[in-house]
Amino acid sequence: MLQLLGRPVIASLAILMLASFPAYAADAGYYTAQQADDGHMDFNNHCAECHRPDLTGALGPALVGKPFLARWGGKSVEDLFQFEHEKMPATSPGSLPKEQILKITAYILKRNGYKAGSTPLDEKVAQTITLPKNADAASK
Ligand code: HEC
Repeated sequence: MLQLLGRPVIASLAILMLASFPAYAADAGYYTAQQADDGHMDFNNHCAECHRPDLTGALGPALVGKPFLARWGGKSVEDLFQFEHEKMPATSPGSLPKEQILKITAYILKRNGYKAGSTPLDEKVAQTITLPKNADAASK
């Protein structure tokens, strides 16, 4: 019976499985849990006053869900990172070192449904991640 599962069958099964896992939700992960934890603290200290601790937005726009992805869907995480690094916090843009903004970005990714893994988020990795346009795919 198993012999029926020749190479072509196995290959197409593998392709089917890959296709059903969008790249942005890959199990490999795009940041470490430690980064997101550190980023959570940094976010609360430097960003939450305007974007709320749950990222739903107040003075600054929401950083999760539909409105966020309407602006950032289709763009890379590197674009998002650059924006944060150059323009945020709005009261003193560019005041946080890149390392800290990367951790905050990891936390924002986490809150948008991305999984943690063993690879730390850095600018190279950030270039390879495109934010999804479909809010449902990224929620939770
Ligand atoms: C003093 C208030 C304030 C603080 C603090 C602040 N922001 Fe913002 N943020 C804003 C405002 C206002 C905007 C909208 C302006 C714009 O898009 O140019 C914004 C926009 C953004 C956006 C773009 C969102 C979108 O959909 O347009 C991101 C991402 C962001 N902030 C991240 C951060 C991060 C990360 C921090 C902490 C390092 C931070 N902000 C701190 C007020 C703030």
